[in-house]
Amino acid sequence: MTQDELKQATARAAIEYVPAGIIGVGTGSTANYFIDELAKIKGRIDGAVASSEATAQRLKSHGIPVLDLNSAGELAVYVDGADEITEHLHMIKGGGGALTREKIVAACSRKFVCIADGSKLVGMLGNFPLPVEVIPMAQSYVARELVKLGGQPVLRQGFTTDNGNIILDVHGLKIMNPVELETQINQITGVVTNGLFARRPADVLLLGTSEGVKTL
Ligand code: 5RP
Repeated sequence: MTQDELKQATARAAIEYVPAGIIGVGTGSTANYFIDELAKIKGRIDGAVASSEATAQRLKSHGIPVLDLNSAGELAVYVDGADEITEHLHMIKGGGGALTREKIVAACSRKFVCIADGSKLVGMLGNFPLPVEVIPMAQSYVARELVKLGGQPVLRQGFTTDNGNIILDVHGLKIMNPVELETQINQITGVVTNGLFARRPADVLLLGTSEGVKTL
């Protein structure tokens, strides 16, 4: 099976976790497959809260109502992909640059269902460069602080987040304690948030493998 077929298989499996009401929907190619599957059962839900403008557009293109998080309240389920995930369900996210809104919607959700192809499961986080969303005027200061933490920050060229900010992709981190590093980076003045999802990890991982979709 190709990587795309594995992503699609996890997206199909995630439909089982969709309750009636309003759900949260993530961003990226795996989340896009999920949106396509969601369209087939859209009559079952009242609508979705999107974690990015791109996701909102795709939901709308399928006729799925997109709702504002502030009026939706607590969500039963959030479904999203990941760039890396461990067996403890700690993740690196933000390859698509939507990390801040993803973290907000995840925080408002009782259950986080992560959908990922098998290549995303790692023993230790950090091979994938850690995205950090930064207020533009703080770029140099935040970059110097990230170097002190052992990383090599690289500006994501030509990219602005949905919130009007920049992304620094931090290379070379060996993330032994994701909960601690997530907190440390978020405390740097000028950081909006970082792509470590460890303080609020996933609750379920649907992992696409050639032997089928495994549930962790
Ligand atoms: C976007 C994300 C995505 O979930 C992550 O990048 C995985 O993407 P894909 O499903 O395309 O592999 O965090 O900000």
